[in-house]
Amino acid sequence: MVEREGEGGPLIVIASNRGPFRFREKANGTFEVERGSGGLVTALGALAEDHEVLWVASAIGEGDRRWAETRTRQVEKIEGIYLQLLTPARPAYDQYYNVIANPLLWFIQHQLWDIPRAPSITRETWQAWEEGYVAVNKLFADAIADRLDKASRPVIVFPQDYQLYLLPRFLRERLGARVQIQPFIHIPWPGPDAWRILPHIIRDDILSSLLAADRVGFQTKRDAFNFVQTCRFYLPDAHSRGSRESIHIGGREVGARAYPISVDVDKVLALTEEPQTELLKSQLINTIGDHQLILRVDRIEPSKNILRGLRAYQTLLQDYPEHRGRVVMVALLVPSRMEVEQYQDYLREIMAEAGLINAEYSERFWEPVRVVVGDDYHRAIAAMELYDVLLVNPLADGMNLVAKEGVLVNQRNGVLILSENAGAFYELGDQALTVSPFDIHGTVEAMHHALTLSHDERRQRAAILHDKVRRAGVKQWFSAQVEDAIRALQADTGTRADTAAAGRG
Ligand code: ADP
Ligand code: F6P
Repeated sequence: MVEREGEGGPLIVIASNRGPFRFREKANGTFEVERGSGGLVTALGALAEDHEVLWVASAIGEGDRRWAETRTRQVEKIEGIYLQLLTPARPAYDQYYNVIANPLLWFIQHQLWDIPRAPSITRETWQAWEEGYVAVNKLFADAIADRLDKASRPVIVFPQDYQLYLLPRFLRERLGARVQIQPFIHIPWPGPDAWRILPHIIRDDILSSLLAADRVGFQTKRDAFNFVQTCRFYLPDAHSRGSRESIHIGGREVGARAYPISVDVDKVLALTEEPQTELLKSQLINTIGDHQLILRVDRIEPSKNILRGLRAYQTLLQDYPEHRGRVVMVALLVPSRMEVEQYQDYLREIMAEAGLINAEYSERFWEPVRVVVGDDYHRAIAAMELYDVLLVNPLADGMNLVAKEGVLVNQRNGVLILSENAGAFYELGDQALTVSPFDIHGTVEAMHHALTLSHDERRQRAAILHDKVRRAGVKQWFSAQVEDAIRALQADTGTRADTAAAGRG
């Protein structure tokens, strides 16, 4: 069915764990559609405007499952996107998401271990690998291949992120060389040593599957280079021949390219004008009054380094008492991956830490920190318009879209404090106050500096940051990948034509 429309260009298939929408079933059996959460969805949400997109994702909540079960045809067009939600068996999904993808792969790639204690690869982990991760990746591959088996148009498949590392191999097995496969990895790719944690069978399966793709996209050149090094180090047949952005294996060349992701500039700016955002903005203005606002907006996620951010703020109030009663920190935090123990513990620690700061420093009606838990994108954008300081201090982060959204919408010439371990550092670092995420003292000094920076300097920095993000939105990010894939498709067609002509001659 997707096959019939827009015959001109290639069909774009996106595969991701989390889809662009989540569904809630209403009492009358119809469904309310909401935007999914997280950076991947923020970034990819706008693609349907320029491309014909089939998006295959997992049904995550109960509403998603009901939506998928009640579709008479598996694919339905929503806001311009052909959507198909897959419903893996719940135990398999749990093993894939809560045992392998999030605690294990995410923790390796963000290097979050307390190494004497974790991780332990047990029989259950191996079982979760086979029955969860491998099985769910296979389910995605089969669903996509079934749909593309008869495609007569060029097809480009873009598997997204660490949840779907095995998809390139399974797709190649089903569809051969006629589709372009181009995964994009949204999270950091650490160097070879970090991957020692994985048993070699699992590690080699991941690397060789990614090398079944045509090229692999990363957020930064550093991630792409680390990937090249990791493949060279662990796969005896993989060679880089001096390149930092390609691997040769089995007579093929696989690219490793940086495509720094961004936000949908027009959409984000349009959001600031919506009545809901305006209302939340005026409510926040009433709440913060004339205090300076230090803002953070994150999933409740250990790699976001929320605890050290709170400790830095506490130290700021201790070491620079002139800020007491004049500043307020607002942390907008959305619960994430709550079935994973480390995430539950992290939420508890954040609440305790914030409580201690308030207990120690509150005066009259002034409370130094407010933690607001919940997923409300309008509220997040409203708050970003108002910050004096935006704290983005992750321990490791593929890009960090909050940094980009913030500098795009902020109306107060706010200052960005940015971790040097966020992918955004490479684009925004020059005009931000940059910190090592481990350095609490450095973060305190950056906060004090930001709160006392002259108006002129704030204005200059904010204007440059705003322009940078405005000029390179998510459409450029995606077009660059599509162009590379189309170029390769054309080169392939050329080679096939030459071979056929040589055969005839
Ligand atoms: P990640 O992909 O790790 O979640 P990013 O910063 O790249 O991190 O993207 C997160 C996306 O989710 C951004 O669009 C951000 O605005 C949104 N988001 C994060 N935290 C919240 C929150 N507390 N409330 C609403 N939206 C949020
Ligand atoms: O951007 C990284 C990422 O892991 C995405 O793959 C994911 O959708 C997002 O963060 C939020 O995580 P989750 O989907 O597990 O809630």
